[in-house]
Order: sequence, then structure tokens, then C-alpha cells
Amino acid sequence: QRLVVAVDGPSGSGKSSVSRAIARRLGAAYLDTGAMYRAVAWHCRDQGVLDDPDAVVAAVQDMDVVLSVDPDHERVVVGTEDITEAIREPGISAVVSVVATNRAVRELLVARQRAEIDAHRKIVAEGRDITTVVAPDADARILLTASAEARTARRAAQLGGTVEAKDLAEQVSGRDAKDSTVVDFMSPSDGVGLVDSTELDFEATIEAMLAEITR
Ligand code: CDP
Repeated sequence: QRLVVAVDGPSGSGKSSVSRAIARRLGAAYLDTGAMYRAVAWHCRDQGVLDDPDAVVAAVQDMDVVLSVDPDHERVVVGTEDITEAIREPGISAVVSVVATNRAVRELLVARQRAEIDAHRKIVAEGRDITTVVAPDADARILLTASAEARTARRAAQLGGTVEAKDLAEQVSGRDAKDSTVVDFMSPSDGVGLVDSTELDFEATIEAMLAEITR
């Protein structure tokens, strides 16, 4: 039986780690669409075209990117270069909105994401516009949220507490604000289940998500 699970949510909501864990439990593939946008940002920076929207689109068209969909094996490769770690750097987080706010880039990536989803019998796809644009007819659609405080705290823990809390709060809310200009992921659209993880630990969040999926 086919199963497509679509998960959206803001930065620090825990959607990546939670979606990955759910994919494992369901024996499903895992598609991290944020990693795609990050890979595009890395590639455009590498090519020195970030400030030229048309060149960005051309670079994405020619881009040879391979993204692992194995939830136990995170891997992003562009050409011959493994950029799995590089795309998580703050320098990429800071410029990813340049490519994510480019509508032509989004169209290209949405097409790739739909093809990837179609290629798997079971898949959990996660991002900002999966429940609304990429896979609005998914079997389960969930918006995972958390309070701004909880999201900043989680992001700080993820980065090993190396960043000042105030700077981080500004970075996270700044990126969410930019992202929100293109896609609405702060409130669930019709038929999308809401899971608020503010008061839930990792395991409880997974349980709440699985309850939504089997509902
Ligand atoms: O690390 P975090 O959860 O904050 O973000 P991510 O999932 O790695 O996504 C990085 C960036 O990619 C976001 O800030 C968005 O600008 C963009 N993105 C998007 O526009 N649409 C998606 N479906 C996924 C990510």
C-alpha cells in the first residue's frame, strides 16, 4: 500500500529529526527538501552567481545533485563534491533565502521533489510547502509547530551552544520571516493536522505525529 506523508514547519520545530525518525518506523524513504534548497544555495555560492537571479536559475537547471533518501544515511552530493556537512553551516543558512525566494528555482525544485515522491512506495517528505504545494494530495499532511522560544532553544542546542541566544533568535526569526513571504507554513491550511511540540519531548512528538498519520 502506498503512503505519502507530508510534513511542514518552521525552523527549529524539530521537523527534520522527527520526520527522519517517523520514516524509519514506517520503513519509508525520507526526503529533506530543505537540504535541496541548501544544496542549491551552496552550489550558487560556489559558482559565484548568488546575486544574479537569472544565473541562479541557470545554475539550478544544470546542477547535478544527488540526495540520499535513506533515513539512516544523510548524504548530499553535488557533482563530485560531498556537501552533506557544508550545507549546515551558518553561512549557508544566511543565504538560502536568496534561492528559496526565487520563484523559478522553486518551480524547478518542486518538480524534482514530486518526481522523488512518485518514485517511492512509502515516503516522508518534509519542508515548508509540502502539505500545500508539493504534495497537497498526500495521505497524511501535518504541520509541526512550536513556540518561538522552544524553537530557538532547540536550534541553540543543535549548534552546540556556540551562538548567543539573542543572535540566534534573530537569525531564526529573520529566516522564518523571509520564508513566510513565499510560503505560508505558520498556520495549517485546510485538512492539515497540527502538532504543537512546545510541551512535547522527541518521543512524545513522534507519537503525536504517528497518531495523526493513522487517524
Ligand atoms: O534548518 P531549518 O529547518 O531551519 O531549515 P531547512 O529545512 O534546512 O530549510 C532551509 C531553507 O530552505 C529554509 O529556510 C527555506 O528558505 C528553504 N526551504 C523552502 O523554501 N521550502 C522548502 N520546502 C524547504 C526549505
